[in-house]
Amino acid sequence: MDPYKFRPSSAYNSPFFTTNSGAPVWNNNSSLTVDARGPILLEDYHLVEKLAQFDCERIPERVVHARGASAKGFFEVTHDITHLTCADFLRAPGVQTPLIVRFSTVIHERGSPETLRDPRGFAVKFYTREGNFDMVGNNFPVFFIRDGIKFPDMVHALKPNPKTHIQEKWRILDFFSHHPESLNMFTFLFDDLGIPLNYRHMEGSGVHTFTLVNKTGKATYVKFHWKPTCGVKCLVGEEAVIVGGSNHSHATKDLYDSIAAGNYPEWKLFIQTMDPADEDKYEFDPLDVTKTWPEDMFPLQPVGRMVLNKNIDNFFAENEMLAFCPALIVPGVYYTDDKLLQTRIFSYADTQRHRLGPNYLLLPVNAPKCGHHNNHHEGFMNFMHRDEEVNYFPSRFDLVRHAEKTPIPSHTISGCREKTIIKKENNFAEPGARYRSWAPDRQQRFVDQWMSALSDDRVTHEVRNIWISYWSQADKSLGQRIATGLNSKSNM
Ligand code: HEM
Repeated sequence: MDPYKFRPSSAYNSPFFTTNSGAPVWNNNSSLTVDARGPILLEDYHLVEKLAQFDCERIPERVVHARGASAKGFFEVTHDITHLTCADFLRAPGVQTPLIVRFSTVIHERGSPETLRDPRGFAVKFYTREGNFDMVGNNFPVFFIRDGIKFPDMVHALKPNPKTHIQEKWRILDFFSHHPESLNMFTFLFDDLGIPLNYRHMEGSGVHTFTLVNKTGKATYVKFHWKPTCGVKCLVGEEAVIVGGSNHSHATKDLYDSIAAGNYPEWKLFIQTMDPADEDKYEFDPLDVTKTWPEDMFPLQPVGRMVLNKNIDNFFAENEMLAFCPALIVPGVYYTDDKLLQTRIFSYADTQRHRLGPNYLLLPVNAPKCGHHNNHHEGFMNFMHRDEEVNYFPSRFDLVRHAEKTPIPSHTISGCREKTIIKKENNFAEPGARYRSWAPDRQQRFVDQWMSALSDDRVTHEVRNIWISYWSQADKSLGQRIATGLNSKSNM
């Protein structure tokens, strides 16, 4: 072993306690004092170091998605899609890629109950031979807003009131009353799907439209969907209150216990594809995250399966310090001009430099498993061992070269600078159709959710009427049911 490259790890534990610098600790029970009753001597370095380390144990929690559970496994290609992409990890059926997944709730704190009505994060980090590919999705296939400039306000409205520190419906309904594009997302959030049974029984979605690029450079729009093989199940009615009342970590426990018992959770990955040349042909904008693509027009095509067969060893190292970023793509996969996706490309690495430090990608859980080399170096907590004299490019002394050119979408982009909304908003058709597709009891539960939310004392008449108008535009009978329900409630 080269002592200069030695990395500390509990795997190299000595048989006796040591300080962080490796000196033997001969007493970990009592502080060093003057006589048995003290005072304590500041020279008890082990005591000071132990307390100081403890005092610094917590890192800032994620600004959203603070509460989560992760697990490891693999992705296996089952269907050939090399006509669509040159991604190495999708190169042939049978190819397996190691991965880590983090499921999460969105709004509440790191220790909050997992039974709250909230979207769920569904983030997958593929450790491919061409770098890490992060598919940072949710369990719903659409999103509340379509421009990232609104994301901080949206999260502020959903988070607890800054005065009371309580999540309050009136603030949420006030904010979203300005955003009818959120209606479709609410047909998921206020539906039974709003509280999944656990993480194993929920779907996942890449939400945005991405681009696949094949080796000839042909680009295809794509949406990603994960379907659990054990089916989708939710906590309905009072079930969430009962489950959450007895165990506020029920979903984390379910995931851990299933894997420990050898009952490995599995999802199938499907894609929907569209030729970018057709993007103007539809009533909706294919890059609009508040819309799904109808499956009868864009059928689900199987691609592979994901199996989670290994629990994490350490929650802090493999969950708290795990850092996803939608900007992390691999050759053969590319972004689109979706405005929300474009803002996400900036935001994640930025927050992680704050949350974990500038060298967060050196942490074992975030580091690529393939070779990597560049001259970005130094900074706080850089623990990469480097032994070279040339840290600039180009140089005649370092033969490192550019990689082969990666195909990226080649279409021309043109237009005027402007700050505006997309042309085809079409906010009401899809939520209306979704509501009408449900059985009567499911419709009733949705109406009940809305009546309960709009009955909050601080929801004004104006905001209530806006929501009734929105839902009436989605489906006349739905708006009427909510209005009638609220009237009879207020007359009681
Ligand atoms: C402009 C819109 C958005 C912004 C600015 C944004 C920003 C963020 C930030 C700052 C985090 C915390 C990351 C960390 O500390 O590690 C986060 C986490 C996350 N976001 Fe977003 N987000 C946006 C939209 C979305 C959308 C549309 C989705 C789903 C498709 C999504 C899914 C997630 C997930 C799953 C996580 C948790 C990742 C993990 O488990 O560590 N976000 N987001």
